[in-house]
Amino acid sequence: MEIKGLIAAGGKGTRLRPITHTQNKHLIPIANKPMLFYPIETLVNAGIKTIGIVVPPESEREVRNVVGNGSKWGVKIKYILQPYPGGLAHVIYVAKDFLGKSKFVFHLGDNIFKSGIEKPLKKFLDSNANGLVTILKHEENWRMGVPYFDKKGRLVDLKEKPENPPHKYCIPGIYFSDHHILECFKGRDRIKPSARGELEIPDAFKYLLLRKYSVETCEIDGWWKDPGQMKDLIEVNRMILDEFDGRIIEGTIDKKSEIVGDVKIERGTKVVNSRIRGPVVIGEDCIVKNSFIGPYTSIYHKSKVLNAEIENSVILKSAEIEGVRGRIGDSLIGNFALVSEGKNGLPRVHNLLVGDNSIVDLL
Ligand code: DAU
Repeated sequence: MEIKGLIAAGGKGTRLRPITHTQNKHLIPIANKPMLFYPIETLVNAGIKTIGIVVPPESEREVRNVVGNGSKWGVKIKYILQPYPGGLAHVIYVAKDFLGKSKFVFHLGDNIFKSGIEKPLKKFLDSNANGLVTILKHEENWRMGVPYFDKKGRLVDLKEKPENPPHKYCIPGIYFSDHHILECFKGRDRIKPSARGELEIPDAFKYLLLRKYSVETCEIDGWWKDPGQMKDLIEVNRMILDEFDGRIIEGTIDKKSEIVGDVKIERGTKVVNSRIRGPVVIGEDCIVKNSFIGPYTSIYHKSKVLNAEIENSVILKSAEIEGVRGRIGDSLIGNFALVSEGKNGLPRVHNLLVGDNSIVDLL
């Protein structure tokens, strides 16, 4: 029977507000590619042909418009609604009809696995275990799922965000299971919402262990990131741009501009009297004039950077940065945002219209 893929693309996105007030977090571009494309491609590269994406009803259309039916990748993508963000085990619950009796890989929509998932998938299939969770060492494992082992190194428990983990291992957001996990939603000993009101994914796997189903672990290689908060998103953008090797210039660059390093400039973009130092990606129909774009910057379509300097940042669609004297760094600038300095002339005051949950750090 085929193995299905399941991706969680719901949740509240609170840690990336205000961007997520108007956009599903999973569509935020990283190195100019929507975040959700990374898990889709990880599953596709592992040979998965049918993928269910769990979305909140309010962003189903938005996600569907960007991702489509899977034909881009030669796979089938189905959308499953999660009526409220009830937790990661709840994501599996709402997908129960889609999953049926299939084995499946559950990938969190905001996780990126550099080296793919072939190794844990192979172990899951070869061992014929009922479930498998991946593990790796992380300094801040107290803010994640944590595995507990007996003296022989066998998995005996899993806890969500425990206060004092006994070691540095965490469980990142890729899980493997067969249909027995669906039993955790039935009967008197079904899993219950945690203190934060969610059906937690570690509880679903713990249920398997308690029922004497086999749950394997597999240490993953390569880097793994959860760009669920701004600093992580900027870092993942940096890590992905770091791997970009080459020069693709589809836009126009005037003679006064200088391009250094690995740079991609998409069609319709004009670079005038500016210096671009890669790795940098600039999307379609942007204007960069009298500016410096420094390493690890991604600028999405239709944005303008005029008389400004920016580095190590992610700029979303149709943003405008104009006449800023200090260099902008380590920043995430939203769709249609305007960042300028002294645009309204004297007196020189900070003139702000800042959305809910924004962060503005002035010199
Ligand atoms: O990143 C790995 C960690 O992800 C694991 O170690 C934890 O065990 C796991 O619970 C999860 O922790 P987070 O606190 O980071 O989960 P978050 O609420 O950010 O949700 C993770 C993804 O799942 C994110 O893409 C949003 C989506 N989601 C979340 C919830 C609560 C849904 O689609 N539906 C939901 O109900």
